[in-house]
Amino acid sequence: MSAAAPMHTYSRVAIALHWAIALMILSLVGFGFLMTQEWMPNRFAIYQWHKSFGILVLVLSLFRLIWRLGHKPPPLPSDMKTWEVAAAKVTHIGFYVLMIAMPLLGWAMVSASKLPIENKLFYLIPLPDLPGVTPSDALTDRFKLLHEIGAKLILLLFVLHVGGALKHHFVAKDGTLARMIPALRR
Ligand code: HEM
Ligand code: HEM
Repeated sequence: MSAAAPMHTYSRVAIALHWAIALMILSLVGFGFLMTQEWMPNRFAIYQWHKSFGILVLVLSLFRLIWRLGHKPPPLPSDMKTWEVAAAKVTHIGFYVLMIAMPLLGWAMVSASKLPIENKLFYLIPLPDLPGVTPSDALTDRFKLLHEIGAKLILLLFVLHVGGALKHHFVAKDGTLARMIPALRR
């Protein structure tokens, strides 16, 4: 692409962060629901990996948000209806909120827990308790419930988001998916 040509895709950093975070969130939701089942083997280890990747999502999402504030995304197709633009914006903002709120709720849940578990991220970095969260069963249950509701909201946004992306790609054929997967660009 020449220097003067318009930028049609997200930046490499935005694309790398999008797919890394998407993969981690989908695994966190999948393994999150599985690890809470009694029959699941190696539950303790999965919990530790869950906490580790969950905090990694928090760090990467904060970085991604800061990056996004300084880098404008490529323009949306001009023939999109007002409600479609609004729906895309609400979904994106909802994702950013949940990408940050979900790890914080999980962290708050383990900080409020009375179980004497030492949390070490990737078996290396000790995870301190969130400041201001005191051990309490009632608080643990509240954060647990909010964490579970958040996961269901992520799934709802995911269905809307992927539905939208596939509609753009296969019905409108307007190159929107190629903004996140440059290899699709002709
Ligand atoms: C984007 C990040 C995260 C996502 C998408 C996520 C998703 C989930 C899901 C789907 C569940 C199962 C919900 C249920 O049935 O109760 C779960 C459970 C859990 N998560 Fe997360 N999680 C994230 C981050 C974290 C973090 C950072 C921590 C802790 C540092 C954490 C700690 C836990 C714990 C302890 C449970 C088990 C709750 C129980 O025993 O019912 N999560 N998570
Ligand atoms: C849990 C998984 C996912 C999350 C959390 C997520 C989150 C996001 C967010 C926050 C944005 C807005 C980026 C910005 O403008 O800063 C975005 C854009 C985008 N995502 Fe995802 N995404 C996920 C999965 C997917 C999947 C599976 C697809 C493809 C089928 C996809 C396709 C796209 C596309 C094409 C855009 C650009 C849309 C546009 O140009 O407005 N995403 N995603």
